[in-house]
Amino acid sequence: MIPQIDLTRQHARLKAELLEAVERVLVSSRFILGPEGEALEAEVAALCGVRHGVGVASGTDALHLALRALGVGPGDEVITPAFSFVASASAVLHAGARPVIVDIDLRTFTLDPAQVERAVTPRTKAVLPVHLYGHPADMEALGALARRHRVALVEDAAQAIGASYAGRPVGSFGDLACLSFYPTKNLGACGDAGMVVTDREELAERVRRLRDHGSRAKYQHAELGWSSRLDEIQAALLRVKLRHLPAWTRARRGLAARYSALLADLPLTLPRERPPAVHVYHHYTVLSPKRDALQKALADLGVGTTLHYPLPIPGQPLFRGLGDSPPPECPAAWRASREALSLPCFPELTDAEVEAVAKAMHQALNRIG
Ligand SMILES: Cc1ncc(COP(=O)(O)O)c(C=O)c1O
Repeated sequence: MIPQIDLTRQHARLKAELLEAVERVLVSSRFILGPEGEALEAEVAALCGVRHGVGVASGTDALHLALRALGVGPGDEVITPAFSFVASASAVLHAGARPVIVDIDLRTFTLDPAQVERAVTPRTKAVLPVHLYGHPADMEALGALARRHRVALVEDAAQAIGASYAGRPVGSFGDLACLSFYPTKNLGACGDAGMVVTDREELAERVRRLRDHGSRAKYQHAELGWSSRLDEIQAALLRVKLRHLPAWTRARRGLAARYSALLADLPLTLPRERPPAVHVYHHYTVLSPKRDALQKALADLGVGTTLHYPLPIPGQPLFRGLGDSPPPECPAAWRASREALSLPCFPELTDAEVEAVAKAMHQALNRIG
């Protein structure tokens, strides 16, 4: 069986380095808000081209606390894509605001700037694009739009660490940007973790306060906050993995290029890199009108695949009754939900496995006709 993702290979290779990092923290016995976390914050901020990083407990908390730091709350609207993991929109609900769901551009699976423009109202407080599958959203158009309407820009870069747009790293475009270090991400912890990055010192300070009970001085609580810290063991593990991220990104891009060459003759829509975006292929996701039959045939041939995501945001019961009548249509998001299929994609996947997946794709599509 070729799995869609296999973390055991990465951890087998890095075992000695990772255990050494855990041991270092155990010996220090400093587990929360210490030197490993601070070093990781500086390293990740530098990678994102900004001055500040604030480690938090998850990517979901990063989004929620970034919105809180901007003062987003009841009565505000935040524009967010119809096709993403649920957290991009649920973070807006957590902040007490209303997610305004806008369709994606199917060429990149990211927020369509022309439709965002039409969705802006006097209540819009922020636009929250998602760099889905590792492909940066159209940051030129969305950045210009945010400046023109004087609304904040918050990047959901959970799937896109290391990607860039017009030569600038993702994470450097928004007022704030949010990262997830969920284990399967391009940079994954051995548990839950996330980070907010920003170039704006006052926003970094606010997130620092919010992640720690609204406190900057011990037992002094200036505002209502949360307990959402990135712990020292995860930080130490992530620092080991961060050193390998450039090589992993090259491997992901290499296997995506190989897939695209080997699958070019099939009746599929293949993922494309739209310049000036540089894609980091968190997922290699194709569109097929016969997606469900294709997934089953591939499973029979020993190839694991995943559906990212089988139901778009407007179809989730959680987001019904947001006051939209009728609910937003979002045909591109619905089509993506019906047709998207993610193939095996992780840096340790071998050339022979990529070729075996491509061969199975040909056989499977032949079989289902
Ligand atoms: C696009 C996107 N946003 C947000 C999140 C939330 O991150 P976490 O799982 O770390 O809370 C994820 C992933 O899980 C994601 O893929």
